[in-house]
Amino acid sequence: MDMFFISILLFLNYTFSSPINVDIRSINPKRDSTSWDPELAFQITINATWSLFWNNQYQAFNAYDPQCQSGFNYDSVWNVAVAGKAIVNSGDTTKTQLVINNLYKFQNQQTGWFTSTPGGSQAYTDDNSQVLWVFLDAYKLTSNQQYLTTAINLIHLIQTQWSTIGGITWEVGANYIASISTTEAALSAVRVYEYNNDKTLLTFANSCLSWLDTHLTDTDGFYFDGIDSRDWSINRGKLTYTVGTAISTYSYLTKFTGDGLYLNKAIKLANSVFESTVFLNSNGVWNNNLSYSHLLFVGIADLITLLQQTQYVNQLTSQANFIWLYDQLTPGSFGDYQNIQVLYNRYQSITNDKALGFNSIIDNYCNGNFQQPKRTLLNDGSAAQIFYQITRIN
Ligand SMILES: *[C@@H]1O[C@H](CO)[C@@H](O)[C@H](O)[C@H]1NC(C)=O
Ligand SMILES: *[C@@H]1O[C@H](CO)[C@@H](O)[C@H](O)[C@H]1NC(C)=O
Repeated sequence: MDMFFISILLFLNYTFSSPINVDIRSINPKRDSTSWDPELAFQITINATWSLFWNNQYQAFNAYDPQCQSGFNYDSVWNVAVAGKAIVNSGDTTKTQLVINNLYKFQNQQTGWFTSTPGGSQAYTDDNSQVLWVFLDAYKLTSNQQYLTTAINLIHLIQTQWSTIGGITWEVGANYIASISTTEAALSAVRVYEYNNDKTLLTFANSCLSWLDTHLTDTDGFYFDGIDSRDWSINRGKLTYTVGTAISTYSYLTKFTGDGLYLNKAIKLANSVFESTVFLNSNGVWNNNLSYSHLLFVGIADLITLLQQTQYVNQLTSQANFIWLYDQLTPGSFGDYQNIQVLYNRYQSITNDKALGFNSIIDNYCNGNFQQPKRTLLNDGSAAQIFYQITRIN
């Protein structure tokens, strides 16, 4: 029996020490939220993320699951920012400093952009928004002025990427205008406004979201992935992170302007994500991968906490509880239950749900070994952010 199998047994015992026999379609939020401690889930997850992926020698997050592959490689800046924000939100100032130093390794000293890899040449505006949010939260925690200056410089850089057809380019200087880079730019603007009161940032955020409404919004109210500025061809894929980021932005805009039209937009989007089959599986659980989900949790949590829209508390808690129960690989490490064999098997055996499909993706395992799923900084960071959102609303 290898170590991983032993840890799975321990893990099953640990997670399911109280019998769980639920039909997912009728998850009772009350019972789940009273029997589940999101604060503990958050702590377990950030601790596991740190001990698994933080590399002391390189003073950076490792892209490899150390039990899967030896050595070190810098993880990409998006992943570092997602996990890093969860670490900052835990309030640990020592680790916050380490995360910030890790992020600065990605910054190009000439241009100011944070590139995908340290010393790399490609920079993406949505990555830079993720980075900006870490710096803002680190500033809030430590009052270190340099962090705020970095965030303000970043929003000014991001604003330069307003494209020839409108919207914010995805890769700096390139032709694709992504809805995610546009919604994230808007959110970065309103979040910086909170600290510098620069009213032009509110106008900019409004321009981003209005442009999306005109050019990249489907009849269901959700956003298409993006558009090529050369031929106006649209990629019609849809993911929950654009919706979540827009809900966050509308929530901040409502708070800062008092304009009820923004509140209506936020509520309409929030109602849709809980009702529309576009993002819901037949079991009532959001269908996007973990890594595309955490910004949706942030959006709903912003709407609840900034504007007291408490009608979403139970449903949001249930969605997070599901992730804790069914996406957990080892304590505090997560993967997608529809993409990883052991998780899918366990989901089926507990719920008896045969309606959902399974994707076999070899890259999700160490050396093709289906008994040993690969853990990733991004999935664990996403899960940590999700549990943190539940601590904000309860
Ligand atoms: C997480 O780590 C911190 C600091 O190392 C420790 O104080 C805390 O007890 C840990 N929490 C859990 C739930 O493991
Ligand atoms: C979800 O993750 C899997 C890998 O685990 C990937 O193959 C798939 O494309 C992802 N889904 C989306 C919508 O990106």
